[in-house]
Amino acid sequence: MPVPILSTRDLTKTYGRGPDRFDALRGVSLEIDRGDSVAIVGKSGSGKSTLMHLLALLDTPGGGSVHVEGTDARSLSGRRLNALRNQMFGFVFQQFFLNHATTVLDNVVLPLKIAGMGARERRARGMAVLEQLELADKARNKAGNLSGGQKQRVVIARALANNPRVLFADEPTGNLDSATGRIVEDILFDLNQNHGITLITVTHDHDLAARFNRRVYIRDGQLITTDEEHAA
Ligand SMILES: Nc1ncnc2c1ncn2[C@@H]1O[C@H](COP(=O)(O)OP(=O)(O)OP(=O)(O)O)[C@@H](O)[C@H]1O
Ligand SMILES: [Mg+2]
Repeated sequence: MPVPILSTRDLTKTYGRGPDRFDALRGVSLEIDRGDSVAIVGKSGSGKSTLMHLLALLDTPGGGSVHVEGTDARSLSGRRLNALRNQMFGFVFQQFFLNHATTVLDNVVLPLKIAGMGARERRARGMAVLEQLELADKARNKAGNLSGGQKQRVVIARALANNPRVLFADEPTGNLDSATGRIVEDILFDLNQNHGITLITVTHDHDLAARFNRRVYIRDGQLITTDEEHAA
């Protein structure tokens, strides 16, 4: 058996303290195989975003572990953790806003700039991903002037700029009309099926969840692991 690209064991996360203490995750163990597509499904407040942030190494758990290709994230220094995240992961989160005042291309190449890539290479890579998402003609537009669906495609382009192995999406179609949402979904599944990118998406939309290889159900910070158990 190959090592899972991501795995967690007994993951816990507590917010606040004293009377404000809230156990958002209560022992989550999960394995995600390379190239899989996984929907994390649950009601509002069930812990979906919390779990995704921990999987993406954007936050640290209260207890338990996250392993990336068999490496325990706790064994990595902050610098190596940042490098691993930048090299391996792409993010399509609604709260990761675009800078509306700068161009579409500048938004897309920002992660490459942070990673230290030179201007010329950055531009070439940025234009390549914009072409992939049929946005090359908008490269010089201010990001603020795009439609909602176009903005979400720019967010995806930015997520792809680093050539990630894992794409994390949190309600990627939540703010879009159903037709535009479908286009964005199709892009994500194309990346998974034809480009081998592991896709991990938070959603409370059961129609969207049904398109994934696998669904992981979360309730009150705990997993109900299988589709079968959920149906029962
Ligand atoms: N920084 C925080 N401080 C205190 N409580 C928090 C914090 N972040 C999240 N929570 C609580 O933890 C629980 C899980 O939050 P989380 O954002 O993971 O839910 P979610 O499943 O993504 O919900 P939604 O579908 O509404 O986005 C919620 O009850 C939330 O109120
Ligand atoms: Mg959420």
